[in-house]
Amino acid sequence: MQHQKLKQLGGVLLLSAAMSLSAQAQEKKANVVVIGTGGTIAGAGASSVNTAAYQSAVVPVDKIIAAVPEVSKIANVRGEQIFQIGSESFNDERLLKLGKRVSELLKQNDVDGIVITHGTDTIEETAYFLNLTLKSDKPVVVVGSMRPGTALGADGALNLYDAVLVAASKDAAGKGTLVVMNDEIHSGRDVTKTNSFKVETFRSPYGPLGYVVEGKLMFYRLPARPHTTQTEFDIDKINSLPRVDVVYNYGNVSRAAYDAFVTAGAKAIIHDGTGNGSVAEQIVPVLQEVRSKGVQVVRATRTGSGVVIRNGEQPDDKFDWVVTDDQNAQKARILTALALTKTNDSKELQKILWKY
Ligand code: DGL
Repeated sequence: MQHQKLKQLGGVLLLSAAMSLSAQAQEKKANVVVIGTGGTIAGAGASSVNTAAYQSAVVPVDKIIAAVPEVSKIANVRGEQIFQIGSESFNDERLLKLGKRVSELLKQNDVDGIVITHGTDTIEETAYFLNLTLKSDKPVVVVGSMRPGTALGADGALNLYDAVLVAASKDAAGKGTLVVMNDEIHSGRDVTKTNSFKVETFRSPYGPLGYVVEGKLMFYRLPARPHTTQTEFDIDKINSLPRVDVVYNYGNVSRAAYDAFVTAGAKAIIHDGTGNGSVAEQIVPVLQEVRSKGVQVVRATRTGSGVVIRNGEQPDDKFDWVVTDDQNAQKARILTALALTKTNDSKELQKILWKY
C-alpha cells in the first residue's frame, strides 16, 4: 500500500516537473506573428505538375502555417490575414495599411518578430518600404514562394520555416527588413526578382546577407545603408504617399506616357532610362517641360544594376533633375515618394536618393 502511494507520488512529481520544463521551453520560444497577404505561397494548382500555372492568393494564412507543423517547435506562431491578393495588386493604400499593422504589432511586448507572406512580384517594393519606415529593431521578414503548395518541388514550406527561424532569432534583430527565400537572407533594400519562374529568382547585387540552412542562420555581411530606426521616415506618421510614376524607355519612345502622368497628377517621374539613365533626344525637352511644371525628374537605369552618374549622360545641374543611386526604378519610386513626404527641394531629394 505504502509502496503504491510512493509510486503515485513519484509519478505526480515527475509529471509536474515535465510540465514545468515544457512551460519553460514554451516561455523561451519567441512569439512570431505571420501576416498573410496572398501570392503564390497562398496559391494552389489544378495538379502537382502545375509548377508555374496556378491560382495565387487562395489559401488562408492559418492553413499555410498548419501545413508546416515544424514551425511550432521554433516559435509560438499565430496567423493574421490582412489581404488575399496577388502582389501585383499592391498599391500605396495597401502598403500603408500593412506597414501600420506591422508597426502596431512590433510595439507589443508579446511579439518578438513578424513574418509577412507575400507574392514574389513586388516583394522587393514592400520590403524596401518597410525597411525605410518601420521604427523597431525586431526582425521583420517578408517571404514568398515561386511554386504553389500543391506542386512537385513546392518551395513555400521550407521558405516559411526559414522565415520563422529568422524572425524568431535575436541574430536577425537590427538588420532591417529582410527577405528570406531559397535558403538565403536578403536585405529588403537590395533584393530584386530576376527570373519569372525559377526558385532561385531573388538576387541582391552585392549578394545575400546570409544563409539559412539546417535550422541555422549564418550572416556574412551587414546592410551598409541606414534603415528602420535610422531613417527620417516613420510609418506611424505617413497617411498617404505622393503620386510617383515610372516611364520605361526603349528605342522609339514617345512623350505620351510623360504627358499622361503629369496630367494624372504625378509629383515625380522616374525616367527608367537606357544605359546610364540616358534620355533620347526627343525626350530631353519633354523632361525639361515636366520639371518646369514643378514635377521632379529622377533618372534611373533599366539595365538592372549599377549607379546613375549625376551630370554624366545629362547635365542634371542645369536641368534641375536628380539621379538614382543603384536603386532600380520600382525601388526609386518608393524612396522618391517617401522623400517627397519630407521635401520638394531637388537638392534634398538628391541627398535622400544617395543616402538610402
Ligand atoms: N502574381 C504573383 C504575386 O506576386 C504570384 C507570383 C508569386 O507570388 O510568386 O502575387
